[in-house]
Amino acid sequence: MTSQLTITRPDDWHLHLRDGAALRQTVLHSARRFARAIVMPNLRPPVTTTAEAERYRARILAALPEGLTFEPLMTLYLTDNTPPDEIRRAWASGVVHAVKYYPAGATTNSENGVTDLRACYPTLEAMAETGMPLLVHGEVTDPQVDVFDREAVFIDRILVPLLRDIEGLNVVFEHVTTREAVALVRESGRRLAATITPQHLSMNRNALFEGGLRPHHYCLPVLKREEHRRALVEAATSGDPSFFLGTDSAPHARRHKESACGCAGMFSAPAAIELYAELFEREGALERLEGFASRHGANFYGLPHNRETITLVKESWSLPRELAFGDETVVPMAAGETLSWKLKDSK
Ligand code: DOR
Ligand code: ZN
Repeated sequence: MTSQLTITRPDDWHLHLRDGAALRQTVLHSARRFARAIVMPNLRPPVTTTAEAERYRARILAALPEGLTFEPLMTLYLTDNTPPDEIRRAWASGVVHAVKYYPAGATTNSENGVTDLRACYPTLEAMAETGMPLLVHGEVTDPQVDVFDREAVFIDRILVPLLRDIEGLNVVFEHVTTREAVALVRESGRRLAATITPQHLSMNRNALFEGGLRPHHYCLPVLKREEHRRALVEAATSGDPSFFLGTDSAPHARRHKESACGCAGMFSAPAAIELYAELFEREGALERLEGFASRHGANFYGLPHNRETITLVKESWSLPRELAFGDETVVPMAAGETLSWKLKDSK
């Protein structure tokens, strides 16, 4: 049995760090494990310009504890009015690595998102020209569509037409949750990739109702049926370079989760790579973890592989039931549970 695992230091290709007082904690958990992260722009107000992205990046770096290295890869929040020139400025900055498309109303802080993607086509053309990838939250917002079908319907109504209309655009289908999404990514070649979260790999929708209503298992896209989880596990552990690690770690204060109208998001950063290691081991695919966590994403984004390594050891440890989060507390994913892989060191 493998008792120690050393891999190239991984990257998180989808992360919510939030802002303000919480940054010290969120940055710490990610920087202990990951060398770089694609940082989501859905702050209040959202990060819509290169100048704002540069200022947010400086706040993240200011919150980084001494002795740790971490490179935040910034993103812009696409709106109906993002001008093509902003894309060129963002690309030239070297700081902004992607643009995030939230359909307006699809998820947390998406009110300023896109109402009609066709209106954004000139901006998307500028992205195709520069090589800037588009990261999509792939769910329709049509209230007529069942919440469990929103990703599959998004593929037909939005994503397939988008890939057809804007030829050179590179796209990441973020946090995929369905076998339909996996199939599309598999058949679309190198211009369409996907991130997969630890929660969608390890839980199905029964986890939302296990012995009662479980607000800490609520995220968007919502957990799906077991058959879909299996398709994600097969994709992640297959070695296919189109699939890579993106935690979508999305902390909300405990009182905002345990509420009559709870927020969507799971805070997986405090055990992210450990959770993926558990899963890959269970599938007999530990030797494929490094590709998924440390190589495929960098290749897609055209960035070098990290030079440092991390080491995980086979040693039981339990996640705390809650953690500090600015002036509040947050319940991490797998709170109070015992994991068998522990982070030893990172160098
Ligand atoms: O569960 C989620 N939480 N899904 C998202 O798309 C956004 C995220 C957040 O920012 O809280
Ligand atoms: Zn997200």
